[in-house]
Amino acid sequence: MKIFEEFESEVRSYARNFPRLFHKAQGEYIYDEDGKQYIDFLSGAGALNYGHNHPVLKKALLSYIENDAITHSLDFHTEAKRDFMEVFRSHILEPREMDYRMMFTGPTGTNAVEAALKMSRKIKGRTHVVAFTNGWHGQSLGALSMTANSHHRNGAGITLSGAHRIPYDGYLGDQVDTTEYLDKVLTDTSSGVDLPAAVIVETVQGEGGVNYCSKAWLRNLSAICKKHDILLIIDDIQAGCGRTGSFFSFEEAGIQPDIITLSKSLSAYGLPCAVVLFKPELDVWSPGEHNGTFRGNCHAFVTAKAALEHFWKDDVFAKEVQEKGKYIAKRLDEIVEKYGEGNFNAKGRGMFQGINCVDGEIASKIAREAFSRGLIIETSGTNDEIIKLLCPLTIRQEALTKGIDIIEASIKKVCAGIEEIPEDTCYFDEVVVQEISS
Ligand SMILES: Cc1ncc(COP(=O)(O)O)c(C=O)c1O
Repeated sequence: MKIFEEFESEVRSYARNFPRLFHKAQGEYIYDEDGKQYIDFLSGAGALNYGHNHPVLKKALLSYIENDAITHSLDFHTEAKRDFMEVFRSHILEPREMDYRMMFTGPTGTNAVEAALKMSRKIKGRTHVVAFTNGWHGQSLGALSMTANSHHRNGAGITLSGAHRIPYDGYLGDQVDTTEYLDKVLTDTSSGVDLPAAVIVETVQGEGGVNYCSKAWLRNLSAICKKHDILLIIDDIQAGCGRTGSFFSFEEAGIQPDIITLSKSLSAYGLPCAVVLFKPELDVWSPGEHNGTFRGNCHAFVTAKAALEHFWKDDVFAKEVQEKGKYIAKRLDEIVEKYGEGNFNAKGRGMFQGINCVDGEIASKIAREAFSRGLIIETSGTNDEIIKLLCPLTIRQEALTKGIDIIEASIKKVCAGIEEIPEDTCYFDEVVVQEISS
């Protein structure tokens, strides 16, 4: 571990909470150098919706590499890119009657957000974009100006401009519809809120604390955007690719955003990849106007295509995710009821859920306790007060149950001081190493 402490920047973060040397991973399990097994309820912060090294995706990737096919391609036409685009259109867009163009950006979420903001400003000729309280859109300066978290905003070192901050659904309590407020300030030419180019929103605010908006709120937001000639950008980087129980997180609301950003689990294998989807008439780009050296990560296209074919050819997988989501919600409600002393509450959609522990220190203690019992889980929210469950969508029931049992035991220990090791849950030294393929 010395090299990390001596040589790696202080900026490292996840590694501080999970201070082990990780070695192998398969499915929902990660193994450290001593062969100790951890259930992964973090999933690369949502980049591993299909778990680690899924055998179908691994096979496709290995065979592609074996054939000396193209790895890096700028934005050249390659077979890997063609096949991915064709399958994305046939498996995702066409069944949903969505007519969109695909733009490849640099392979991170923040890159896709930058492109979405730039194109909105170009199309509408306006500078401002509406973003929401507790929103999270990335760390590069344009995206960071849309991100709400002050710890990260303070890192910018310059004035962040170009955003109007509006309260997210529920921010002012259940009785206040904040889209009404938005409509009012946009209608009133003396409200001081300039007409924006776009509104950027997450349907579930992952980093912001697993806050989710209602279908009605999202539909209102979409209608208000149309009414005021504003583009609606759905940042589906964390909530998309199946996390909420459908490929896109806004499907339930029945809306079609103007612009969609996707990254994280798009490649399905943890390989960097990001795209922006937009209605064809919004394609105002001139060649190379927003480019980047790593837009053509063919390995990511290969695994992304394999995942779309394997998981999204019909609605079987989506239904499985919905069922697991119901199980998670039931278990979390029970846990909150038993140990939350009326303070804690469970929230989220699909397999994107969390427990609000109200106090960041308590939530961190619970996460640490869970780690000592073999579960990798993170916190989110303004004060890190939410324990956020982001397990792979492909997790097997046995591991899902065991992971939630560990959360329950950890909460019980931290909140009620009751030490109880759930059956089949082991502390480090007793963990049985499961056989994994090399
Ligand atoms: C909704 C959302 N948008 C954008 C980003 C930024 O993505 P990246 O970290 O890949 O730049 C994130 C990352 O957590 C995110 O959750």
